[in-house]
Amino acid sequence: MSESVFPGLSQSVATLRASEIRELLKLIARPEIISFAGGIPDPALFPLDSIGKAYQSVLQNPAMAGEAFQYSISEGYPPLREWIIGYLKNHGIEAGIEQVLITSGAQQALDFLGRALINPGDAVVMSSPSYLGAIQVFGTYQPKFISVPMDDEGVLLNDLETAFKQKPKFFYLTPDFCNPAGITTSLARRQAILELAHRYNVAILEDSPYEELRYENARIPSFAALEQQYLAGPEGDGKRLVVYIGSLSKVLTPALRIGWVCADPSLINKLVLVKQASDLHCSTINQMVACDIAKASHASQVEKLRKAYKERRDVMLEALERCLPKEVRFTRPDGGMFIWLEFPDSIDGAELLAEAVKDIQVAFVPGSAFYANDVKRNTARLSFSLGEPARIREGIERLAALLQNKLRANRAA
Ligand SMILES: Cc1ncc(COP(=O)(O)O)c(C=O)c1O
Repeated sequence: MSESVFPGLSQSVATLRASEIRELLKLIARPEIISFAGGIPDPALFPLDSIGKAYQSVLQNPAMAGEAFQYSISEGYPPLREWIIGYLKNHGIEAGIEQVLITSGAQQALDFLGRALINPGDAVVMSSPSYLGAIQVFGTYQPKFISVPMDDEGVLLNDLETAFKQKPKFFYLTPDFCNPAGITTSLARRQAILELAHRYNVAILEDSPYEELRYENARIPSFAALEQQYLAGPEGDGKRLVVYIGSLSKVLTPALRIGWVCADPSLINKLVLVKQASDLHCSTINQMVACDIAKASHASQVEKLRKAYKERRDVMLEALERCLPKEVRFTRPDGGMFIWLEFPDSIDGAELLAEAVKDIQVAFVPGSAFYANDVKRNTARLSFSLGEPARIREGIERLAALLQNKLRANRAA
């Protein structure tokens, strides 16, 4: 398709480009393709029974149905916010109802935070690589991105401190099993990052949609929980800098579009005004249904998903270990949906994808999509959330064979 020539596009929209992932999803929908590209929940695991019953019970109750289809408050359906407060409490975060705003998925939370915090040209710090949707949405507010590379424990502290010296508006990361790299920020690294954030007065945007999808090792406290401990202690400086972003998309279903922000009430007040100006409120019927199924099925869903996704992760890791050329490095995530590959410099992830789709009917996402700057092209993201274990195994075996051939050819050249 040719570039849009519609006259008068704003600078921030004119520079928007179609997401490589969304474009890819169209291409790889063909049934013969073994796709590791999507990174979406498996629809076979949606709690459809509970969802059906929850809609029915609202519709059969005239008072509730009236409320469900009426305009409502921007902050969100109070019983759902109460459920979220309970969820946060279980995760070591004490919050009042005035600290929780329901958003249309975590994605809208990121958009509103970008709108509330970024002026054009402001510095914004991102883990590198980072969630593509965050790069895209913050990009519309025209910040100057500063990327901080990661090792197995999270972002590198020296680089983070250098970035913080440039007085950024915030530091964005996904601490648990991050999308795309599958890396979990260790406890020691979280504590050090929090200390730096308070020293330099930089907000931390903690995006945590995957935290329940943990398949091994103990949960690590969130930045929000650690900050509360710090604020309650003798050193506490009284500033609540952590903004926690949650979502029901990965555990229940993304279609309800339920996410939330938990933050200092002074920020939430502003975000509520942004929400009012943007879309007034989230769908009340969906919030009621989400509340109902969250209460009834959240725990059992988490258990079901952990079992299913753990098996798929294990199959993918086993196949990677067995077949992948030794020069290719990969991460071993404790949870989530993603494994990250790093090839020798001679291999470009996008070129490899084109060959893989054509020659071996395997798809993944080239890693270059996940960099705000300092792009590393020799990378790829694999998702194990969809697909039968046997197909995962088959897909990795094919990909490994293609890589062996390419590396052999490169050595011979
Ligand atoms: C890290 C991260 N944040 C946010 C989102 C958006 O999730 P939601 O469906 O809640 O908008 C995603 C979705 O893939 C994600 O991976």
